[in-house]
Amino acid sequence: MEYILDTADIEAIRYCNEFYPLAGVTTNPSIIAKEKTNFWELVSEIRSIIGPDKIFFAQTVQKTAEKIVEEAVLLNEKSRGEFCVKIPISEEGIKATMMLKKLGIRVLVTAIFTPAQALLAAKAGADYVAPYVNRLDNIIGDGCNVVAEIVAQFKLHNLSCKVLAASFQTAEQVHKCAAVGCQCITVSADILKAVIAYPMTDAAIEGFDRDWQNVYGDKTILDF
Ligand code: G3P
Repeated sequence: MEYILDTADIEAIRYCNEFYPLAGVTTNPSIIAKEKTNFWELVSEIRSIIGPDKIFFAQTVQKTAEKIVEEAVLLNEKSRGEFCVKIPISEEGIKATMMLKKLGIRVLVTAIFTPAQALLAAKAGADYVAPYVNRLDNIIGDGCNVVAEIVAQFKLHNLSCKVLAASFQTAEQVHKCAAVGCQCITVSADILKAVIAYPMTDAAIEGFDRDWQNVYGDKTILDF
């Protein structure tokens, strides 16, 4: 299971890349637009933080298969490292996925809300599909169950396409999706922090510090 950071906020990427076992960074047009900055400079800055081996995901803003392919080829060339283009599911998007597979460019089919959409994307050659967990939960759609169904379906049909679950609002959603075997989870920095946080952990650490200091004061192991 891989953790991926879903942001284009440079400080959040720098921070999480230092403190968390990240496999890469995902973006989409809304995430990029939030930064209100030059697109290529942002891509270059993200790459300089994560290095060439972690995977960078950028989404096409084109609507026709030919233009999506053109944009994906450019993104792939200019992203200077492991790269995957995100394409929202549509007929043109599926056509572009099949074309890009012939060019050897990795594709994530995004904005997935049903297992049937995911199966079609995988059959077109997508390397990843991204179901939107919290957006499904918001309409009482049981996002984690949709993720579970996609995982089961890919296994049943022996498809190598990975499930990269996206759109998370709680640590519980992350836990439930990991438990049903999705291969990747993309989250904000806040959700990563929420996954670590637990009040009993804080209490346990305070207890260790108190017991140590009662006997050794400020001395640490390095001082013996
Ligand atoms: O890339 C998809 C993901 O970022 C959507 O998340 O929180 O906008 O539903 P959200």
